[in-house]
Amino acid sequence: MSGKVDSIHIRGGNALFGETQIQGSKNAVLPVMAAALLTEDVCVIENCPRISDVIHMQNLLTKIGCKLSRKGRNLVIDAREVSEDYMEGESVTGMRSSSMLLGAMLGRTGHITMAYPGGCVIGKRPIDMHLNALAKMGVVIEEKEGAFTAWAKRLEGNVIKLPFASVGATENIIMAAVKANGITIIDNAAKEPEIVTLCDFLQRAGAVIEGAGESLLMIKGVNKLHGIQFRIPGDRIVAGTYLFSVLGTGGHIFLKDAPTRQMLSVMRTAAMMGADIEISKEGLSVLAEPARIPIPYVKTEVYPGFPTDLQSPLMAVLSVGEGTCIIEETIFEDRFKMAQELAKMGAQIKIDGKQAFITGVPKLVGCEVSAGELRGGAGLVIAGCMAEGETVVKNRHFIERGYEDICRDYQNLGVNIYTG
Ligand code: UD1
Repeated sequence: MSGKVDSIHIRGGNALFGETQIQGSKNAVLPVMAAALLTEDVCVIENCPRISDVIHMQNLLTKIGCKLSRKGRNLVIDAREVSEDYMEGESVTGMRSSSMLLGAMLGRTGHITMAYPGGCVIGKRPIDMHLNALAKMGVVIEEKEGAFTAWAKRLEGNVIKLPFASVGATENIIMAAVKANGITIIDNAAKEPEIVTLCDFLQRAGAVIEGAGESLLMIKGVNKLHGIQFRIPGDRIVAGTYLFSVLGTGGHIFLKDAPTRQMLSVMRTAAMMGADIEISKEGLSVLAEPARIPIPYVKTEVYPGFPTDLQSPLMAVLSVGEGTCIIEETIFEDRFKMAQELAKMGAQIKIDGKQAFITGVPKLVGCEVSAGELRGGAGLVIAGCMAEGETVVKNRHFIERGYEDICRDYQNLGVNIYTG
């Protein structure tokens, strides 16, 4: 894609004021779409965001025989027929969430061949934990170059102890387990809100699950699920992106339908930096002075800790102001790539292994920068809102994987921003 038609232009330096609607959650909707396969029925997914990762998942479901249609913000998935179990191409290799179809297809047909899933360039991101867990449930995995086949005559429940509370592995085990023979227990399950949403969807469709959102999760296999209508909650990472933006620029914004209960660690960090936050049933109001309070140290952690997906947006904000801050990244080993682009705008950041040392500067200056992945791209847009002059963020397509229309949202908050 040429830089000319794949960029975002921002005239920065102004405070943010206004209200914007928070879209449905990317990381919640993708596993729910995969899980619709298990219902062998028609499901209506409400509040489904129009992002490119959803389009990739739509393509994959269509390819294997489901019928999909959009009605406004609702996505209808008719999963009564599945005719194909081979998945390859850009929708698999370009999006890590394609791995969700592994557990879902094993639960549905007992067989799948797929290329190795891709996703953002933020570290190695293997799927060894997914495959080891599925093997314990009776799945036979044969690896070929760049692809693998997984099949099981009958999925068997088992006790699975995860070496790390992986979100994707937990989701895949849950999907393989809901129609397996007997009981599956996941020890050290991920506790992210997206796990709770997936379990909520499956339970309403007839699955038996105990302990969603806790480290110990139990799933009792059932014979059949049924179609349901299900609403996707607001996206906590998108809401967090805009929350940090106003900390960077100052101003007063309202984030309608922000999932505040899922954002406690983010709101705590923002409050420590001087944000005045008010929570209501309708969403989140944030008032911030242009100068933030310095904070010395932030560490990314599994939920309910500070999310790795908001590490880059936070780094952009911390690049301006008084004092030095250390950000420690404990989830993905290679998630500081945005720092070198921020440096082009005047930021002073030193990376040493898992730690970034950020020395605040008086201001950023707009220039041409390139997004290298989704959340780093969002961080650069925040930097553009804060910077003096014009910033051009190239590789907009990375941002569109997770933000429905980031320009529309920032325009609602008064930013001079447009695609180009
Ligand atoms: C999900 C989210 C992503 C978020 C991440 C952590 C989706 C679509 N993506 O990604 O936005 O940043 O959770 O909250 O929901 N790992 C292994 N082997 C495995 C699986 C994971 O080594 O089999 C490692 C990964 O390389 C990474 C860490 O475990 O270092 C966390 O990965 P995981 O929790 O699985 O994240 P994802 O599900 O990929």
